[in-house]
Amino acid sequence: MKPLEAGDPRVVGPYRLTFRLGSGGMGRVFLGQSPAGRRVAVKVVREDLASSSGFRERFRREAKLAMRAGGFWTAQVVDADPDAAVPWIASQYVDGPSLAERVARHGPLDEEEVRRLTGGLAEALASFHKTGLVHRDLKPSNVLLVDDGPRVIDFGVSKAFETLETAGSTDLTRAGTILGTPGFMSPEQAQGQPAGPPADVFSLGSLLVYAATGNGPFGEGPSHTLLFRVVYEEPDLGATPYGLRELALDCLRKAPEDRPSAAALVSRLAHQRPRSPIRAPRTEPPERSRGRTRRRAVRMRTRRRPPARSKGVRPARRPRRGRPRRTRGKRR
Ligand SMILES: Nc1ncnc2c1ncn2[C@@H]1O[C@H](COP(=O)(O)OP(=O)(O)OP(=O)(O)O)[C@@H](O)[C@H]1O
Ligand SMILES: [Mg+2]
Repeated sequence: MKPLEAGDPRVVGPYRLTFRLGSGGMGRVFLGQSPAGRRVAVKVVREDLASSSGFRERFRREAKLAMRAGGFWTAQVVDADPDAAVPWIASQYVDGPSLAERVARHGPLDEEEVRRLTGGLAEALASFHKTGLVHRDLKPSNVLLVDDGPRVIDFGVSKAFETLETAGSTDLTRAGTILGTPGFMSPEQAQGQPAGPPADVFSLGSLLVYAATGNGPFGEGPSHTLLFRVVYEEPDLGATPYGLRELALDCLRKAPEDRPSAAALVSRLAHQRPRSPIRAPRTEPPERSRGRTRRRAVRMRTRRRPPARSKGVRPARRPRRGRPRRTRGKRR
């Protein structure tokens, strides 16, 4: 969060702007306050984009759709003005770092954190997809992390820009800046084909790998190189933990119809959860198996304590129990 700069607007619609949250391909984002004191993130669209032909219409349509996409896992879009001199869109302010910021500051997440993040994102996507909406720009800077799970931002807005760009330009470098990070795009998007819900699932697979390793599965490089890799090359899972690799690969299948739906991912992760102890401390793989053995031993001890006498468990304790009695006997 940074102070406002000289050229930054002070008021947008009914919102008083207080800080600059950042900027991306579409424009600048500010922290704003409503007259009632509610905090919102106001995205102010770049002027050159706003003046592109047909942009305002697409922006209006997508903002309307985005406002309908609510739910627990997103920052609710609360307001937008496609007709303002500089169009803007306001969403609920989420007080947490983006996944990109989190990984840049503290490195990759551990396996359990990635599993929970993936589950949260799958739930978010499932709820969007159920209402017929597709995000199309799921990437580390569009996922904000708060204590009770991830929030997906910039929902729907990207489409206004995507259509603008793919319709009007064949310049991949330029398309790269507008479409976000090409390394998180699905192959169908990279080829300019229609992108439905499976495109979001592909991006989720890329996010999973990024969260677990700090690198996207198609690496870094110029836009055209990344787009080529997304379409033709196998993903590089790097050091993604073993327990998450199959999930990532399924999401990253090249053909949209081969990928699981977001809803299927939710139930798959829900079934996996009991096997991974959520409260377990962070451990390295060899330690983990020792930890499991120790926990199992504790469980067995707890269960077997009552019948211990009859089953002859813990022979070492019997003398201890008996000894004081014998001692007392001798004294008498
Ligand atoms: N609803 C929100 N709550 C809190 N922070 C937000 C919200 N929306 C955006 N931000 C923050 O504003 C900053 C800029 O976001 P922006 O979407 O402009 O960047 P980007 O995602 O990198 O690029 P783009 O989405 O335009 O391709 C990001 O750091 C993001 O975390
Ligand atoms: Mg964004």
